[in-house]
Amino acid sequence: MAGFRPQNGKTNGGKPLEPNALDPRREKVGEFYDEVWTRYVQDREAAERHMADVFPPDLISGRTALDSGCGGGAFSRSLARFGARFVVGLDISIGSIRMARRINAADRLEYIVGDMEAMPFEDGTFEVIWAWGSVEHTPHPWRAIAELDRVLAPGGRMLLALYKRTLLSPVHGAVRAVLSSLPRRLHAPLSWAGAAVLSPVIRMFKRREKMRSGEELAGVAHDWFFVPLRHHFDPAEVRRRFAKMGYEEELFVPATGRFDSSSHFILRVRKCSDGGKERGHHAGTGAAGS
Ligand SMILES: C[S@@+](CC[C@H](N)C(=O)[O-])C[C@H]1O[C@@H](n2cnc3c(N)ncnc32)[C@H](O)[C@@H]1O
Repeated sequence: MAGFRPQNGKTNGGKPLEPNALDPRREKVGEFYDEVWTRYVQDREAAERHMADVFPPDLISGRTALDSGCGGGAFSRSLARFGARFVVGLDISIGSIRMARRINAADRLEYIVGDMEAMPFEDGTFEVIWAWGSVEHTPHPWRAIAELDRVLAPGGRMLLALYKRTLLSPVHGAVRAVLSSLPRRLHAPLSWAGAAVLSPVIRMFKRREKMRSGEELAGVAHDWFFVPLRHHFDPAEVRRRFAKMGYEEELFVPATGRFDSSSHFILRVRKCSDGGKERGHHAGTGAAGS
């Protein structure tokens, strides 16, 4: 697994960290997920079925893979089980990485604590990148995407699941700003209470089956209402930017949840074999999330 180690305390392919990469919001997100991923355990079988639906094993087998923002590691384990040559699960949350090492260990799978905005890998290290619901929690999502682009080999594939921006996103954001400022010890009990209230409403309005089942509603409520930082994206803009960066779109799933306003969209893209150079692409760091 050469090329995975931070070089002389530096990251980002050996380049020094930019000063504004040391954003305190990043640590807050890490602490939040320390709690979430030690409290709620994901359904590994459901995660695996879900991965097979959107990233078939034959596109993973024999390739080097990164699970960026791996949480408790359910998807990292599936990447290994689908035959990846080796897998790295990376997360900013130390608690998540500890949990992942404990419950989702596998051969050819290594978990590391790291920041998706400045990763300790050489350019083009991975042929497969899975970033489910993680980019949206970084302080600068397009910087994270630029990093994913940097560490993806030409011809490699990347899957992103990102929250969709809707008219309700600012409302959710305002509720979240209030709730996430409450003392930490209240978050879990309030999530359980919220889940009890929300469950009949969700049943009533159920319009689409979730592609990924098995998460407890309380865990979803906790993640949804208390996370300190979350961006929402306009799918059309993300698709346009990836095309400009020299990516070919292979799969677009417009919504995964029951409600548009709380739904991920999925984008699986393939990097041009010349890395998109002919189009002079650059992911840049401009903010597209909200
Ligand atoms: C909603 S969870 C998703 C976890 C996992 N991908 C899954 O779907 O089960 C978001 C994850 O992204 C991680 N994360 C957030 N910001 C990060 C960053 N800057 N670098 C690496 N991981 C980050 C969080 O710690 C958390 O585990």
